[in-house]
This record gives sequence, structure tokens and C-alpha cells, in this order.
Amino acid sequence: MMARRSLMVGFGGYLPDRIVTNDELAARLDTSDDWIRARTGITQRHIAGPNDTAVSMATAAASRALEYAGVSAADVDAVIVATSTPDQAFPATAVRVQAELGLRGGFGFDIAAACSGFVYALSTADALVRSGQVEKILVIGSEVYSRIIDWSDRGTCVLFGDGAGAVLLSATDGAGPEGILSTHLHSDGTTGDLLYVDGAVGRRENSGFLRMRGRDVFRHAVAKLSDSVDEVLAAHGLTYTDVSWLVPHQANLRIIEGVARKLELPPERVVVTVDRHANTSAASIPLAMNEAVRDGRIRKGDLVLMEALGGGLTWGSALARL
Ligand code: COA
Repeated sequence: MMARRSLMVGFGGYLPDRIVTNDELAARLDTSDDWIRARTGITQRHIAGPNDTAVSMATAAASRALEYAGVSAADVDAVIVATSTPDQAFPATAVRVQAELGLRGGFGFDIAAACSGFVYALSTADALVRSGQVEKILVIGSEVYSRIIDWSDRGTCVLFGDGAGAVLLSATDGAGPEGILSTHLHSDGTTGDLLYVDGAVGRRENSGFLRMRGRDVFRHAVAKLSDSVDEVLAAHGLTYTDVSWLVPHQANLRIIEGVARKLELPPERVVVTVDRHANTSAASIPLAMNEAVRDGRIRKGDLVLMEALGGGLTWGSALARL
């Protein structure tokens, strides 16, 4: 009999209505559409409106994931939200989402692992399923980076966007090959100053903004993500050719292409949203999953490799058979 494990059964996403193009940024900053496209592949990003919050976007994405799975909110045992941009320090975003969804049982908590947040949350949720604590669990990434961006810093503000994505996991003991095969997490606090927010709760004026040494982050990203995809495939005796889809964190097209080249995956096997969403941090992988499952690219039986790197530095990978 197969061991207890998690199936990915529901997918949902939410993007704010407002789209900001590169040209709009170039009108108020010393940058250009050409520069942004060439260095990052980004053409536009969605930016939260006054009524969009980490909670509202997470709730919208989660509702769509439940609808996709045909599961009612009352059957959900737990909610994990990966976010670095919560509306409040506490209560956790996840318990607010619990209330919004009408859940009166179970539990919820947030995970802060910056752009690796979704992989961390997926790993935690999978462990809760495997240990028998939950049957159904929502794993959400919801981010409002527009509220921690220094809009006068052209080196960072062009890179990020807002949004939320959600995946519903459901426990199985079935004999089929599907489910989350494994997740692998890493962090290295000595690299914390490469990408960080310069303030916290009760922050003083002119603090609380994202700061980054872009070139150093880029270098770490390509090296660590390459190791990370090797690690997860080796854990299952699989090779590059077994992977149906790479669903990477969407930070920069050049980083994504670097990892895809290493995997010898043609571009049509890589799910890319960074061109339209920019970097939505913990929301980027579930948003990309949602898009590719709903448009029929990712199908039942496909082997999906997810990977991410973010502030911490944190990084990791996950392998799932849909
Ligand atoms: N428009 C125009 N010029 C810009 C610019 C912008 N938006 N941002 C930076 N520049 C300038 C810099 O000031 C610098 O000018 P200088 O040479 O006169 O000093 C020049 O472009 C090169 O800067 P550099 O930072 O070396 O460029 P780069 O090729 O490394 O590209 C990033 C910059 C940010 C696109 C790239 O480093 C990157 O993507 N890093 C990873 C960032 C990331 O994904 N972080 C999130 C991880 S989760």
C-alpha cells in the first residue's frame, strides 16, 4: 500500500485589476521598457487597489481553489498563508482568511520565507497531511509588495507585482502514482543582507522598504536553484527527461531560462508568468500553477517541478505528480 500523502486538487488565483506597464514606470523614473524587458522579461505588473489586501486577495484565490476542487470551505482543516506583506503583524493572515471563508474549526498560520514562501508552505502542509493531522489544507501565497517597495528605487520597483495564488491539498492513501513526492528546503542567514526589508512592526518613518543587491541575488539564484532541482530529482532517481513541467518562482526570465537550460527543458515545458505578473513573491508559483492547469497545459499524470529562491536567503524545491 502507498504511504499517506497529499494530492494537489484545487487551484485558484487573484490578480488586482490595475495593470501598470513598463512605460508607465518609465514616465516617472529613469528607466525604459527596453531595459526592463531585456534584463527581466517583465512587461507589466498588477498593482493592488485600495480595497485589495493580503487577506482579501488570499481569500479570493482560496475560494477559486475550493470551487475548482468542488470542496466546500467547511471541509477544510487548515489554512497556511505564505506572505511577507501581511496586513497586520497579527492575527495571522491565515486566520483572517479562515474567518472570511466561514471556517469555524481547524487552524491557520502564516509562513514568512519571502519568495520561497510557497515552497515552504507546501512542505509544511504536506508534512501535516502525512502525519495525519489534516485531510484538506489550503496553501496560499498572497503578497502586496507594492506597499513595501521604494518607488523611487529603479533597481527594485520595476521587478515586483501584487497577487495571490492558492492550492488545495487533499490526503490520499491510494495506490496511484500521483501526489507530492517530496519537498526540500534550505536557508542561509549569512546572506540575509542581500535582500531584506529595512524595518518591521512599529517602524520609524522612511523605513520598511525592500532593499536588494540585485547582481548578488542573481548569482546565488542560478547556482542554488540548479543544485535544488538536482537534489529533488536525485531523491527519486529521476532525471531531467522525466520532468513534464518546470513551474519556477517568477523573479526574472533570465533566472528561469538559466535553470531550464540546465534541465535541458525546452521553453514550451516551462510555465512563465513573470512577463505579465512580474515577481509576486510567495504568490508566483501558485499563480503559475493555476494558469497552466486551467488552460490545459498541465494535465493529470504530469510531473511538475517547482523551485524558488528568496530573501533569507531561502530556497527550495518540490516535485509533484498531478
Ligand atoms: N532601469 C534602467 N537602469 C537600471 C535599472 C532600471 N530599472 N535598474 C538598475 N539600472 C542600472 C544600474 O543603476 C546600473 O547602472 P550603472 O552601471 O550606471 O551603475 C546598471 O543598470 C546595471 O545594474 P546591475 O544591477 O548590475 O544590472 P543587472 O544586469 O544585474 O540587472 C537586475 C539588475 C535587478 C535586473 C538583476 O540583477 C536581477 O534580476 N537580479 C535578481 C533580482 C531578483 O530577482 N530578486 C528577487 C529574487 S526573489
